[in-house]
Amino acid sequence: MLRRLHHEQPESFAFTPENLAWAKAQMTKYPEGRQASAVIPLLWRAQEQEGWLTRPAIEYVAEMLDMAYIRALEVATFYFMFQLAPVGSVAHVQVCGTTSCMICGAEDLIAVCREKIADAPHALSADGKFSWEEVECLGACANAPMAQIGKDYYEDLTAARFAEILDALAAGKVPPPGPQNGRYASEPLKGLTSLEKYESGRTQHNASVARALDLGDTVKRIDGTEEPLRTPWNGDKSPGAVKPVKTKRKEAKPARKAPADDTGVAKQEARAKPRAKPETGEAAPDQHKPALMDAPRDGKADDLTRINGVGPALEKMLHDLGVFHFEQIAAWTPAEVAWIDANLVRFKGRVSRDGWVAQARTLIADDDRAEKGDD
Ligand code: FES
Repeated sequence: MLRRLHHEQPESFAFTPENLAWAKAQMTKYPEGRQASAVIPLLWRAQEQEGWLTRPAIEYVAEMLDMAYIRALEVATFYFMFQLAPVGSVAHVQVCGTTSCMICGAEDLIAVCREKIADAPHALSADGKFSWEEVECLGACANAPMAQIGKDYYEDLTAARFAEILDALAAGKVPPPGPQNGRYASEPLKGLTSLEKYESGRTQHNASVARALDLGDTVKRIDGTEEPLRTPWNGDKSPGAVKPVKTKRKEAKPARKAPADDTGVAKQEARAKPRAKPETGEAAPDQHKPALMDAPRDGKADDLTRINGVGPALEKMLHDLGVFHFEQIAAWTPAEVAWIDANLVRFKGRVSRDGWVAQARTLIADDDRAEKGDD
C-alpha cells in the first residue's frame, strides 16, 4: 500500500515540555553521535501527542536527532504503526486481513468497519471518533480473526461482537481486550488437552489482558502525565531526572510548513539548512592528516560511492574534507585512516570497518584492467 504524507498538514509541531523532557531522556540511551537510534520512540511520542504523524512532526524529530529529513521520513513511511493521516479521536482500528484472519472472518469485520466507521480506510467516521484500516498479520493468528484497537488486541471476534465493541467505545467504555469468545488465551477451542492441572489456578484474565486492564491505556494516548522516564545510566538516581546529552542542535525549532511539489514529498528530501562546513568531529592529531585536495583533479572526482559502505552523504562528507579520488584513499596509512575515521562524525570508524583502502586499491586495479581492455 502506498504510504505518503497527508495532503493537509499543520503549520508546525513542537513537543510539549513533558514530551520534550521525555524525548531528551530517550536520546541519552545512545552514545554521542548515535542519537538517530532514538528516531522510532521520538516519532511514536510525536504521534501520541498529535494522534497522527504530521510532516512538521517528522521534520522536528529529524532536527532533534540531527538527521536528514528523508531519513526520518523513510522510517515514518515504512512502519504501519505510524499513522500518516488524521485518525479517529477515540480509536484507530486495525483489522488483520492476513490468511488466518481472512479465512476466519476478517472480511466480515471489515464490513463492520465500512458500515460503522467509513466506507474507505483511513477516512474518519462522521463523528470523527473512529478510523480504520486493514493490516498485515498482527501475530495473533491462533485467535483469528482479530483487530488491534488503540494499543490492544481484540481476538476471536465475530462481526456482532466487533460491532458491540465499537459501540461501547463510542459510548466512552473500554471493553476488556483479548479473546471475545470465552477462550482464556490461545488454547484449543475445545479446551485444554495438556497441562490441564493448571486450569484451576487461572486468574480471571490471561496475563496480557490483565496487564492491559492494569494499564488502562487501550485507547488512551500518552499525554505527558505518565511517570517520567528514568535514566539510571546517567548515574542519576532520582526518578525521572534526566541529563540530556549534548547534540549539535540543542533543541529543535518548531518545524514550519514548507511548500511541496506536486508529489508532496520533494521538500522533505532537502535538509533544513545546507551544511556549509564538513561535519568533522574532534580533530585527531594533525600530523596524521592525509594529503587532501581543494578540488578534484581536472574538475572530475571519482565516484566514491563505488566503495561499499559509501553513500551520497558520506561521499559529500569526503568531498568536504578534500577527498575526491581512489588514489588518495588507496595511499592512506593506518594513522591516516584513523584520522579520517575520527573526522567522519556520523560515520566514525567506517574507513577501517569497511576496508576502504583495500577497496580503493581493487577499484583502481579494476579500472586499469578495464582501460587496457582486459576482462
Ligand atoms: S493472520 Fe491475523 S493475526 Fe496473523
